[in-house]
Amino acid sequence: MIELGVNIDHVATLRQARRTYEPDPVWAAVEAELGGADGITVHLREDRRHISDRDVQVLRQTVQCKLNLEMSLVPEIVEIATRVLPAQATLVPERRQEVTTEGGLDLTREPDRVTDVVNKLKALGIVASAFIDPIEQQIELAAKLGFDAVELHTGEYANVTDDMALAEQLHRLEVGGQWVRERGMRLHAGHGLNYRNVIPVARIQLMAELNIGHAIVSRAIFVGLRQAVREMKNLLDQATQVRDVRAAQGVGAPVLDYQRK
Ligand code: PXP
Repeated sequence: MIELGVNIDHVATLRQARRTYEPDPVWAAVEAELGGADGITVHLREDRRHISDRDVQVLRQTVQCKLNLEMSLVPEIVEIATRVLPAQATLVPERRQEVTTEGGLDLTREPDRVTDVVNKLKALGIVASAFIDPIEQQIELAAKLGFDAVELHTGEYANVTDDMALAEQLHRLEVGGQWVRERGMRLHAGHGLNYRNVIPVARIQLMAELNIGHAIVSRAIFVGLRQAVREMKNLLDQATQVRDVRAAQGVGAPVLDYQRK
């Protein structure tokens, strides 16, 4: 089974458009759980452009599945994480001008600072995940710095438009996934995944968790959040069934199956 983490930042973005109380991400989390979400993911940004401190606190008390806090290395946010104690924290890069997270965290830049944060989180029983690009040096460092999990950045895969580039990007993720597994870390992926492009990523061997926001919240406008989550969860379940049957039969990497189609 693959866990579906539903990122509900966009619900808070809509609320902040009027600086009012609705729509409430806390309600969204309930609807997502009723649709089958295995996790609720929120990014508490330094500029608080969408998710607020109150949201994180209330979600911590109400979410019944896994609460995954996306966060930068900024001391103020680290302090909040150590107080709120989410089940999982995913370290992401953060730039003020960006519309959304652009690319993975570069672990070569401040390894000591990263290690310090990872140690703090792990000492409190928080699963530490690194959002990084599928690059061997980064994955190697994630293992060295003590991360429990790696979330592979799927943004480049999601952005390609032609079949050749798509196969290349998928291959990068498949190989990256192998490096993560070989180093004993849990394999996650996310960014830009949607109802059309998610299946090949879900079929990567031992993919354990996908974090998806924009596509689900966009669909929710038309079909409701519970239904939008249910549809994504069904897609993941179907993809995993095929993956697990193939693995049991000793059939090779899913990326090759996809390329053959
Ligand atoms: N994973 C991470 C680390 C992210 O920063 C985001 C976006 O906040 C997502 C997953 C979800 O991306 P999307 O909204 O494109 O599905």
